[in-house]
Amino acid sequence: MTDTGSLLTALECRACCTQVDPTKPVGTCPTCGQALLATYDLSKLDASAWRKGWAGRTASLWRYRELLPVQRVASIVTLGEGLSPVLPLGEVPTATGLRVWLKDDGGLPTGSFKARGMAVAVSRARELGLDALFVPSAGNAGVALSAYGARAGLRVRVYLPERTPPPMKEGCRAYGADVVEVPGTLREAGAAARTAEAGTGAFDMSTLREPYRVEGKKTMGFEIFEQLADELPDALVYPTGGGTGLLGMHRAFQELRAVGLLDREPRIYAVQPEGCAPIVRALRNGTPRAEPWADPRTIAPGLLVPSPFASERVLEAVRGSRGGGITVSDRAIVDAVRDLARRDGISASPEGAATYAALGPLVRAGAIRPGETVLLYNTGSGLPFSLAALERAVGAPDGSDARPRE
Ligand SMILES: Cc1ncc(COP(=O)(O)O)c(C=O)c1O
Ligand SMILES: [Zn+2]
Repeated sequence: MTDTGSLLTALECRACCTQVDPTKPVGTCPTCGQALLATYDLSKLDASAWRKGWAGRTASLWRYRELLPVQRVASIVTLGEGLSPVLPLGEVPTATGLRVWLKDDGGLPTGSFKARGMAVAVSRARELGLDALFVPSAGNAGVALSAYGARAGLRVRVYLPERTPPPMKEGCRAYGADVVEVPGTLREAGAAARTAEAGTGAFDMSTLREPYRVEGKKTMGFEIFEQLADELPDALVYPTGGGTGLLGMHRAFQELRAVGLLDREPRIYAVQPEGCAPIVRALRNGTPRAEPWADPRTIAPGLLVPSPFASERVLEAVRGSRGGGITVSDRAIVDAVRDLARRDGISASPEGAATYAALGPLVRAGAIRPGETVLLYNTGSGLPFSLAALERAVGAPDGSDARPRE
């Protein structure tokens, strides 16, 4: 029996319509191998009472627990994640005439939005009796799993690309996780992890190969609605690697619509670096899935995802919101990290800063129009990064390889 009030009913594969019992640990669809997504009995939710109740509840993402999968309060593993601030940026020089806000997940436990997904997924893993977890990660997901795993008393192994920022590697180790360094990108780390862990009984917490991380990320959408309902942004700009965050927000808006709390959802724009943009390319080409990106390169580790799993679902989410995609150069990303820090006092990860860099290109492309309200999502703190090292990696601003400043 549930005492969280969770209305979880099943796990469902959108590709082949298989329904799976959610009371046992399961990864991907047993029929076709694609992502499983949670379903809830929304008819049992008294939506206006639910919404009125949020303010009186705990100041964390667990205030939305009816539409999260965890069944028992005792299963919840929390470090106080959620309810990150929404900050006005004022006039942004590259995109005059817009009202720009930034939601800042850099201050969440472990320094990124990955805390949301891991809090929910580790809680559910504990509830379902798992005791050993592993994840291939660009850094932040590994740190988050290490921390929540430690808090839950579960064993954690993290597979990181060799070039992951050292503070993230050290972060995982500090929480007591085993760290395995793998040459290459997240793709190689994922392949190494799945080979090494086969038959060990450890559970794969890779995003969308595990059904509950995306449920935690849904809370980004619930919070945007709670914090900005009276002036919900026209557009939401999100740094996209695997695309789980974007899919989670879209799911939140769909659920809010289904229960009658929302009638218009923000258009979602996926931002990717020029050197690794499989989702944006698929959006431009109108294809149902993203093809692997050859020779991926970018200074934003979380966006170095050359072949996102479940790209079909991510593309459906962007298209369903009537949004789109845009690419930005690494040079523009580093400029944005610096400008957000110096102009606004915001420490943004390169991934989060990519959304600031995307504003000008989105306006020039006619995707966002003067007078509109835009929310940028900063998914992580800039503190694990050295600005000087990022600058060196992309060349001097006025060097020969520099792009014109806006
Ligand atoms: C800071 C940061 N932003 C964005 C992303 C991309 O995440 P998503 O899978 O939601 O596209 C990552 C993934 O590692 C990340 O660490
Ligand atoms: Zn299936």
